[in-house]
Amino acid sequence: MSSQSQAAPAVLGVGILGAGPVTQAIHLPSLSRLQDILEVRHIMDVDPAVAESVANRVGAAFSTSLDELLADPSVDVVAICSPHQFHAAQVIAACRAGKKAVLCEKPFAMSGDEAASISAVSAETRVPIIVGAMHTFDPGWLAAEAAWGDLPEQVHTIRSSIVLPLNPRFEDFASEIVGRTPMPARDNTDPEVIKALLTGGVMGLAIHDLPLVRRFTSDFAAVEVLHAEIVKPFGYVISLRAGHVTIELRAAMNSTWEPSWVLEAIGDDTSLSIDFTPSYVHAGSAIARIMTSRTTTVLGPFGHNGYEGEWRKLAEVARGIGTAPSADTLIHDLEFALAIAEAATARVDDQATTRQEATV
Ligand SMILES: NC(=O)c1ccc[n+]([C@@H]2O[C@H](COP(=O)([O-])OP(=O)(O)OC[C@H]3O[C@@H](n4cnc5c(N)ncnc54)[C@H](O)[C@@H]3O)[C@@H](O)[C@H]2O)c1
Repeated sequence: MSSQSQAAPAVLGVGILGAGPVTQAIHLPSLSRLQDILEVRHIMDVDPAVAESVANRVGAAFSTSLDELLADPSVDVVAICSPHQFHAAQVIAACRAGKKAVLCEKPFAMSGDEAASISAVSAETRVPIIVGAMHTFDPGWLAAEAAWGDLPEQVHTIRSSIVLPLNPRFEDFASEIVGRTPMPARDNTDPEVIKALLTGGVMGLAIHDLPLVRRFTSDFAAVEVLHAEIVKPFGYVISLRAGHVTIELRAAMNSTWEPSWVLEAIGDDTSLSIDFTPSYVHAGSAIARIMTSRTTTVLGPFGHNGYEGEWRKLAEVARGIGTAPSADTLIHDLEFALAIAEAATARVDDQATTRQEATV
């Protein structure tokens, strides 16, 4: 069934798969500000107590079954907020159910094969897909993109620097969380754990900015990781080259008093520096600065952030207004992230071998 085969109602019904902290602290507060266009109608979680409690907050139906949510005729658009490993199958099921659009939390797949299957189903069903890499929908970023001229052709250095408290701190500021899964204790001196933490850092955190980084790296397929290490209790320092661009990805999640999330793209005579609001925080958009040797142009803050931006975009594409990012864009964004994660974990092995050789 085509997604556009029936006219969209004035207020679109939202169904949410997975009602964990991200649904509770990010999406429900965002949707509460968008009630003129979107209404939460159905919440599904495999934990019945979580499904019921979260649904009751917004007066929605609840269930523990994907099929039940997809069969609910009051659900026009579906948001996928379950753990990573379920995303691909749930996106495909939502497209096949003939919903008007799908919002999938990042990452929308965990392999190139999964991404290709999603792309094929999206092309066949023509259901638009939005991936919740929220910075790509932040009005501060969009204003910078419209104003930066030839910056992408001249960028040689990119820095993504993230310092944040661990997620529960911000989740608790935003809402009273039910059903939180505690972080498992791990031996982060074990090389296999280090590799899993690096992959988690890239696919879970760096991935927010990698679609933005890719705007400045046309040669994104040729990734060479020069250095990769984890930061305790959670974070990473990864240096890489993509084509002729040098990229620094740094993240530290700790008990910081001052959160900071900055992306810089530095060119020969123009630079961009963009300050994003931290994840989970609902306080307007990023502020972008475009600098030359003579001028600084400040863009933002605007009234809403990327979370609200992605929901607005979802509502538009569900109505056939504007276009969702192309399947190629989503697949290339994912391939870029997977290539960095893979090369970073391989670098950990190389660094361990070099250290062993040095001690012999
Ligand atoms: N956009 C952001 O800023 C941001 C921040 C953190 C996490 N995320 C992403 O959001 C997603 C959810 O994160 P979270 O912290 O709420 O995760 P979580 O794992 O803590 O919670 C997910 C919820 O999904 C439920 N669940 C488990 N299996 C399910 C299934 N098969 N179908 C439906 N529900 C299922 C769990 O019971 C839990 O309530 C993840 O993909 C994560 O990467 C996004």
